[in-house]
Amino acid sequence: MDDNPYFRISAEDVKLKVPAGFPRPVYNFKTNRLTPEIFTLGRTLFYDKILSKDNSVSCGSCHQRIAAFAHIDHSLSHGIYAKIGTRNVPALQNLIWKDAYMWDGGVNNIELQPLSPITNPIEMDETLENVISKLKHDKKYVVLFQNAFHDTIIDSKRLLQSIAQFTGLMISGGSRYDRFQEGKDTFSVAEMNGLKIFRSKCENCHKEPLFTDNSYRNNGLKPDPSLKDEGRAKITGIEEDKYRFQVPGLRNIEMTYPYMHDGRFQKLRDVVNHYSNPENFDVGADRSLQKIGTLTEREKDELVAFLLTLTDKAFLYDRRFADPDFQ
Ligand code: HEC
Ligand code: HEC
Repeated sequence: MDDNPYFRISAEDVKLKVPAGFPRPVYNFKTNRLTPEIFTLGRTLFYDKILSKDNSVSCGSCHQRIAAFAHIDHSLSHGIYAKIGTRNVPALQNLIWKDAYMWDGGVNNIELQPLSPITNPIEMDETLENVISKLKHDKKYVVLFQNAFHDTIIDSKRLLQSIAQFTGLMISGGSRYDRFQEGKDTFSVAEMNGLKIFRSKCENCHKEPLFTDNSYRNNGLKPDPSLKDEGRAKITGIEEDKYRFQVPGLRNIEMTYPYMHDGRFQKLRDVVNHYSNPENFDVGADRSLQKIGTLTEREKDELVAFLLTLTDKAFLYDRRFADPDFQ
């Protein structure tokens, strides 16, 4: 991995660059100083099946780069022993602006987040102790940890911090929408109308520039009885939180299908049809959805045209996030 300059990580590559117009991040790497060597360790771990019990699943198996690290075409996640999960794999992007992770906000620290998939019996089914022991017996990791931390200690804190450097730098802020905001690109009439509709009907939850306000809402989806997923209530135990899910940021939405926590919609058009159909909303639907009303076919086209401007090719093809073993 070191011999190909295209894939080598430089000091410039690990500089935290906050895109124009973005707020200050929640997690700022102050206690986990970014270095090319620690990032490279995290990157190698992210794509390594060694993190799973039978060495069959990596983070990258579920989180695909070309889908902004969601899983294209899988409505529910596929884990170890061919087990199917109960939720759709979310995109990984702009994570350092989030104050909580998962569809229900059940994890509130980016460094601790990987504990969940590693130990989940239907994702990687492994223990942290076992992972550390496997890494200590692997010559490649002995070298990678030594390069990263300049001593021979291999422990879970370092493992988790390195993965946080890799996932935390997944920043998407280079879409046509961003260039338009900076006055460096123009929108077609349809895209411009779509933006206006978005701002009057969707912005209340999908707040620019991250396209989420990090809150938990019921966006009108009727619960799927086979999944028994109570969303935010699973974490808080509060009745009103039933069927509320964290508002997802919509960047790269073109690539992250299928949509919603259970992946029930294949197309953006299906999503827009859902919002345009108030008579089908769940009883607990957020009141602000009433503002949307019934959209005309033309308005739906325009909304979708706008959503497509959120695709960030520079992020999707960013060499820093490529699997170092597939060059
Ligand atoms: C079996 C598939 C699978 C594997 C393997 C997996 N994930 Fe995930 N990941 C998911 C699913 C599904 C969710 C949503 C879980 C939920 O809401 O309960 C998720 C959520 C996340 C989130 C939260 C994103 C957000 O915006 O809230 C992060 C970060 C993440 N995964 C990183 C990782 C890392 C790092 C690894 C490897 C250590 C990993 N994942 C392994 C399926 C997977
Ligand atoms: C009341 C808050 C709210 C409003 C208003 C709202 N949304 Fe959402 N949106 C959500 C929540 C919450 C989810 C995730 C729901 C789930 O998975 O159960 C979501 C999911 C989505 C998704 C799927 C994202 C993914 O990664 O799967 C898209 C696309 C979307 N909304 C677009 C829109 C558009 C377009 C509008 C305006 C017409 C809109 N939303 C209005 C709260 C809202």
